[in-house]
Amino acid sequence: MTKQKLVRAAGLADGQTVKFQFPGNPRPREGFVARFRGQLVAYENRCRHLPVRLDAEGDGFFSPNKDYLVCHTHQATYDPLTGLCMRGPCEGESLVRLAIEVIDGEVWLILD
Ligand code: FES
Repeated sequence: MTKQKLVRAAGLADGQTVKFQFPGNPRPREGFVARFRGQLVAYENRCRHLPVRLDAEGDGFFSPNKDYLVCHTHQATYDPLTGLCMRGPCEGESLVRLAIEVIDGEVWLILD
């Protein structure tokens, strides 16, 4: 099993996200790990409407009230725990979920 260390779990507060790169073909891909209502989730940073990242420079992934993940381009609104697009141009589609595991307080990305 290949895995990649991402962040200390305790360092990620509710409503926070941390971005990371992970191997892809032909080029590395970007993901993010988020804590939402105590749970940790990770997704590829790519909207399901168009193949662009969700966040904008200097802006985060969460809506202002921290209830949803939002794409900055056309405001597709995703459920943070399931990745399902609940409103917007890609309603009904889901973010690509990435497998993570917490080992000894560190969040690891599970690559295969
Ligand atoms: S590119 Fe994300 S909603 Fe259009």
